[in-house]
Amino acid sequence: ASTLHAAAAEQGRYFGTAVAAYKLSDSVYTGILDREFGMVTPENEMKWDATEPSQGSFSYGSADQIVNRALSHNQRMRGHALAWHQQQPGWAQSLSGTALRNAMVNHITNVATHYKGKIYAWDVVNEAFDDGGSGARRDSNLQRTGNDWIEVAFRTARAADPDAKLCYNDYNTDGQNAKSNGVYAMVQDFKARGVPIDCVGFQSHFNSASPVPSDYQANLQRFANLGVDVQITELDIEGSGTTQADNYRRVVQACLAVTRCTGITVWGIRDSDSWRASGTPLLFDGNGNKKPAYTSTLTAL
Ligand code: XIL
Repeated sequence: ASTLHAAAAEQGRYFGTAVAAYKLSDSVYTGILDREFGMVTPENEMKWDATEPSQGSFSYGSADQIVNRALSHNQRMRGHALAWHQQQPGWAQSLSGTALRNAMVNHITNVATHYKGKIYAWDVVNEAFDDGGSGARRDSNLQRTGNDWIEVAFRTARAADPDAKLCYNDYNTDGQNAKSNGVYAMVQDFKARGVPIDCVGFQSHFNSASPVPSDYQANLQRFANLGVDVQITELDIEGSGTTQADNYRRVVQACLAVTRCTGITVWGIRDSDSWRASGTPLLFDGNGNKKPAYTSTLTAL
């Protein structure tokens, strides 16, 4: 196949990208989006601050624009993210305890119900583990409502949209380390106790300080062996030329080697669309031209 998603589909996988609603009027952007990608993650539009700017008052305009467009172009949706310590509206940041817990549950119920039946997989909880060597939960206002906040989030999402796959998503969990060990133990515990979890997302933001880990495939496989799907959810790799192309190839090969690695999403289309302040981490240059990393990715699929 000659495009990313068509090539991934031949392997029973998807290939997706993050999309920003305000770019959907850019025909170069949408041209690449519709030609190359079969899965769409809203880059910011489904986050708590965007969807519930004041408590109990929901705002779905930008997210609906992305969802309706994707579904009418035969693209599936990854929902991102129901519960996260970042990009919370100010009113939620100032809540705590039972009031915050109830607000989280109400938020998840409302958003997952609004999109019921339209989402392939939800990032139910994003980035809940600490970066230090402890493997512990990250301190956050949500964590301080009680250690069961993550399982409550998953049960709430399942009740609202029983057909969506429910994922835990994080960064710096791509290789085997204290943080991914902590997530692994949580998933193992959830499976043992029947907490509904279907998948684990590995953000995979790579650069020279955080390169593609040598045990990437082994780490994906150990999670898959727990009985969950795994996905690469926010891939970008700093660099250029052959080195970057080789790193993208390694990521694709690691996913394809794991039966339950169901797809790969890059975090933006052109280098100029990247959230990173500098660098050239994506598959298309600022003019929308294919980079060597595009070719190595397509060839590896
Ligand atoms: C980023 C977006 O790309 C930016 O536009 C925004 O300013 C901040 O968030 N991990 C995640 C994503 O789960 O939601 C983040 O997206 C990147 C890191």
